[in-house]
Amino acid sequence: MAEKMYHPNSELAREAHCASMEQYKRMHEKSIKEPVQFWGEIAKQFYWETPAIEDKFFSYNFDLNKGDIFIKWMEGASTNISFNLLDKNVKSGNGDKIAFYWEGNDPEDYSRLTYRKLLEETCRFANVLKSKDVSVGDKVVIYMPMILELPIAMLACTRIGAIHSVVFAGYSSDSLAERILDSKAKILITTDGVWRGEKLLLLKNICDEAAAKAKKHGHQLENCIVVAHLRRLNNPQAMDIANVSWDDDRDVWWHDEMEDAEASCYPVWMAAEDPLFILYTSGSTGKPKGVLHTIAGYLIYAATTFKYVFDYHPGDVYWCTADCGWITGHTYVVYGPLANGATSVIFEGTPFYPENDRYWSIIDKYKVTQFYTAPTAIRSLMKFGDELVKKHSLSTLKVLGSVGEPINTEAWLWFYNLIGHGKCSIADTFWQTETGGHVITPLPGATPMKPGSATFPFFGILPELLDEDGCVIEGEGEGYLVFRRPWPGMMRTLYGNHQRFQNTYFDRFNGFYCTGDGARRDADGYLWVTGRIDDMLNVSGHLMSTAEVESVLAEHSSVAEAAVVSKSHPVKGQCLYCFITPNAGMIFDEKLQVELKKKVRERIGPFAQPDVIQHAPNLPKTRSGKIMRRMLRKIAAGDRNIGDTSTLADETVIQLLFELRPCV
Ligand code: WT7
Repeated sequence: MAEKMYHPNSELAREAHCASMEQYKRMHEKSIKEPVQFWGEIAKQFYWETPAIEDKFFSYNFDLNKGDIFIKWMEGASTNISFNLLDKNVKSGNGDKIAFYWEGNDPEDYSRLTYRKLLEETCRFANVLKSKDVSVGDKVVIYMPMILELPIAMLACTRIGAIHSVVFAGYSSDSLAERILDSKAKILITTDGVWRGEKLLLLKNICDEAAAKAKKHGHQLENCIVVAHLRRLNNPQAMDIANVSWDDDRDVWWHDEMEDAEASCYPVWMAAEDPLFILYTSGSTGKPKGVLHTIAGYLIYAATTFKYVFDYHPGDVYWCTADCGWITGHTYVVYGPLANGATSVIFEGTPFYPENDRYWSIIDKYKVTQFYTAPTAIRSLMKFGDELVKKHSLSTLKVLGSVGEPINTEAWLWFYNLIGHGKCSIADTFWQTETGGHVITPLPGATPMKPGSATFPFFGILPELLDEDGCVIEGEGEGYLVFRRPWPGMMRTLYGNHQRFQNTYFDRFNGFYCTGDGARRDADGYLWVTGRIDDMLNVSGHLMSTAEVESVLAEHSSVAEAAVVSKSHPVKGQCLYCFITPNAGMIFDEKLQVELKKKVRERIGPFAQPDVIQHAPNLPKTRSGKIMRRMLRKIAAGDRNIGDTSTLADETVIQLLFELRPCV
């Protein structure tokens, strides 16, 4: 059956930066055939203290036979990203423009920051960092809720050439400690705590635990800078709880340090390929990967994707619901919007507090024109029915964005019809922590949409589908999604482990960057991302590896072996389904299940909690001992169509596992 096409509304198309498929094709072709001219032209929008060397604007090697993989853009150029995002906007007369509207967890709690004020605060905090001996190349870990001090801290790092590593403030102290250790961070920035809906999170305590764990492994944090976020609420209960423990040699309050700090700070001019930030993402071996992005390429790519994919125009108010702990929050809360002088909303809370229509209230309150969120959020809000949405006007919206996982048709249509009133374009943006910015996405004024398809490559992106043997699939077909060429915003390495970078992304198909996702190309050339083809799971848009969860489960003294697979879930997209083989003599009971769930929550984070824990006296394995996850996925799904079992060492396991399957 041919899917219905949805065309951009003509009003939107008329004004759009890219206003037709013809224009898109022309620009895409130029970006591929003449990358230096294409990106060189875009780079002119920014300030470069020194220009790129004439014939060294772009160089790379994607061929392992020719040596190490490398990607370089704008060699020889130097700049400062905070200068381009802040000073440049202030100098051009936008100092009084709102950079961020901040909406707190409590609807009565809100504020705003102009570009001028954001520049001042950034400089102040950069001076604070300097006073703590932070300088070029030092690592700063940020573990904070979505408050304005978070982008200020990130930007302050860039001001002085320090490398930020933001850790999502939903991660456990173990995960935080692991990231502090791997990045060898000097400084940790956090808050006393935060309210998320009706839940209080005591972040400073988690930081204390993490710091102690890092210390045990021989790494001493020099300072912990704490924003008094709970205290400032003047809520007696919060005041009491926020009485955090304090290490006088290490801990300082943000407001104390800021009080005397100068509001100006000369930017450090950094080389184009100097590191900008490290952001950890799950790896299929279980150990997180420190994805490293560099300055110049990331800046021009973040800026360009933001401008075209959200079709941002002066006067628009843009809102991305992602947390800065994820790449979406880096590129599309901080860097992309500010590089375009945009006005955005930052929201601290959850979609469900105080009521389940909080998102829709915020859209009306700030007259949001572009709204960027995740399929899992859309699905969880659909549950509450349409009436709650219809109480709000939502009439300012022009572009809706989706990211994190494939969006199912039902959610797409609800988003399009109910939230977008059938007149907004939907940008289903496919990308990854590693890609730095959108790589496959519609452009709102140009691309006819098919619900569930991320459509076509962005400028500079050359996707291919490969079969098992690495042969390119032309035309219609399904295969491994890879990219033939680097684009400015792609990652440069895994921090401290270039070998792992090469193994993970280039070994399987030499000559190509391998995404780890599968995709299908239809008869019209549309790309449909089908999901991970490695041992990764995507729970509510959070990527994690089966190995990571398995190793936590296997640490329990009653567990002999654990195997984790994904199972589809109506709201989360996927959830974790775990098979547990207890040690001899150990009983598999309710208590064990509760303990295991708790362990995963504590060790990785609440979002990783398994939905199902099943007893598995044995696991299906090949004769060489490899666990057959393909079969476990079928059992988890309750699908008896198990396929060929002849490679199993013991074929009777399957029957037994079906019998032990809990009713889920
Ligand atoms: C993985 C990357 C990029 C920011 C959020 C996640 C999946 C992401 C889509 C989409 C289908 C998608 C892929 C990808 N994914 N967006 N629009 N359609 N799948 O970043 O944690 O690095 O995860 O998310 O599987 O590989 P991430």
